[in-house]
Amino acid sequence: MLLCNILVLYELIFSLHIMPLFKPKSKASTSNINAELDINHTDAAQPAQSVKLHTQGGDKAVMLPVLKGSLGPDVIDVTNLYQETGMFTYDPGFMSTASCKSDITFIDGDEGVLLHRGYAIADLASHADFMEVCYLLLYGELPNVGQKEEFVDKIKSHTMIHEQMQFLYRGFPRSAHPMAVMVGAVSSLSAFYHETLDIRDKSQRDLAAIKLIAKVPTLAALTYKYSIGQPFVYPDNSLNYAENFLNMMFSVPSNPYKIDPVVSDAIDKLMILHADHEQNASTSTVRLAGSSGANPYAVIGAGIASLWGPAHGGANEAVLNMLREIGTPERIPLFINKAKDKNDPFRLMGFGHRVYKNYDPRASVLKKSCHDVLKKLNHKNDPLLEIAMELESIALKDPYFVERKLYPNVDFYSGIIYRALGIPSQMFTVMFAIGRTAGWVAQWKEMIEDPKQKIGRPRQLYTGHPHRTFVPISKRK
Ligand SMILES: CC(C)(COP(=O)(O)OP(=O)(O)OC[C@H]1O[C@@H](n2cnc3c(N)ncnc32)[C@H](O)[C@@H]1OP(=O)(O)O)[C@@H](O)C(=O)NCCC(=O)NCCS
Repeated sequence: MLLCNILVLYELIFSLHIMPLFKPKSKASTSNINAELDINHTDAAQPAQSVKLHTQGGDKAVMLPVLKGSLGPDVIDVTNLYQETGMFTYDPGFMSTASCKSDITFIDGDEGVLLHRGYAIADLASHADFMEVCYLLLYGELPNVGQKEEFVDKIKSHTMIHEQMQFLYRGFPRSAHPMAVMVGAVSSLSAFYHETLDIRDKSQRDLAAIKLIAKVPTLAALTYKYSIGQPFVYPDNSLNYAENFLNMMFSVPSNPYKIDPVVSDAIDKLMILHADHEQNASTSTVRLAGSSGANPYAVIGAGIASLWGPAHGGANEAVLNMLREIGTPERIPLFINKAKDKNDPFRLMGFGHRVYKNYDPRASVLKKSCHDVLKKLNHKNDPLLEIAMELESIALKDPYFVERKLYPNVDFYSGIIYRALGIPSQMFTVMFAIGRTAGWVAQWKEMIEDPKQKIGRPRQLYTGHPHRTFVPISKRK
């Protein structure tokens, strides 16, 4: 097993593209340089402590330390690679690159494992509520009764937003996509909390995290109310987090909203399942934007922008649109073929994941919960669910999807549940953003609190023109 790990490590690094920066004389000279790598393991029973990298024809060999996490693959520390060799590493899409150390979330994509602070997602979804999970992500431990009460009180005391924000909403077209409004609305909180905010002060960082978790649902509900022309509903602190959100979404002055516990419990569970997911695109965006010391409200706005894309959080809305477009189970093979056709940009939305090459554990929880919720709400004969089940079963047997390990992900089922709960499809990704705010602020705090924190600044492989002589406009052809 150990030897196997070492070999895997060897292969991984051997495939790194090494880019020389010591003023190469010509392009040909750059391509002649190959990297060779030795793994330093004096005792076969011990894991590698470092790897040795030397360039063919070069007289330089560099020892790169191997870092061990508490779980997951070892990591080769290339921090000094440029200093020692004048070369960068090349890894577009971060396929093999760890961008940070983190204590918050662990994913084993091959085994379908997701842990928050060591707790399995299925256990958290079954036994904890979203407020406990927020506390866990932020502070590292599950709260006791007193700690939870204090935390919930703090969240409730920050659910309101500045009255001036109403005018911000009025600047948006009513037809704007809710995620477009959310990017603006959440970022604009920075205009209200900037002068007085010092992110180097721990208590102020904690407060910003609390305010974001508290205010994002309020802004989300206002976004929806604005889009349909109904009056804004203020937060009601007698309600829990999910109930308060539902009340702000669906209550109208003339007709108070009656909260169905099936619906509020399902929303709470969905929030848990969305709460954090390690260094995904939006969380990495939050870390990168925040690494410059930017205002945390603007930083979370950047995270929301990244989440919106259909390859990320926007997939839940795209799944529902796809199921509608399929329309009937008979048309499923047509869409499966489209997804397999390399000349067709269509992909099966809600299938595949960068990290999970086994079942997404969140999808397992949601699949069961989807049936329960639909049954309890008398939606069990939802035709879209029927199409979804049929699509899943066909895709899971199709060699194209099996070979590429493309399984349903969290977004595949969440859209169907949100629909049954009465959430409009354009709001699906907003729902994701509400849950993920907890993870974003926990990751932002962890980054700022790292004593070795640096501004994030990736390098590149430049492929453009070498230096050219400037030609005045009159002489250009
Ligand atoms: C999630 C996703 C972006 C991961 O992308 P990735 O890790 O970069 O994987 P790739 O895009 O390289 O895909 C690997 C292979 O599977 C195929 N593939 C991946 N997802 C696919 C899908 N949903 N439908 C059809 N084919 C898919 C790719 O075409 C590629 O095939 P190839 O090797 O023949 O070229 C991708 O699976 C996807 O677009 N899924 C649909 C959107 C979605 O549900 N996103 C939510 C994620 S939680």
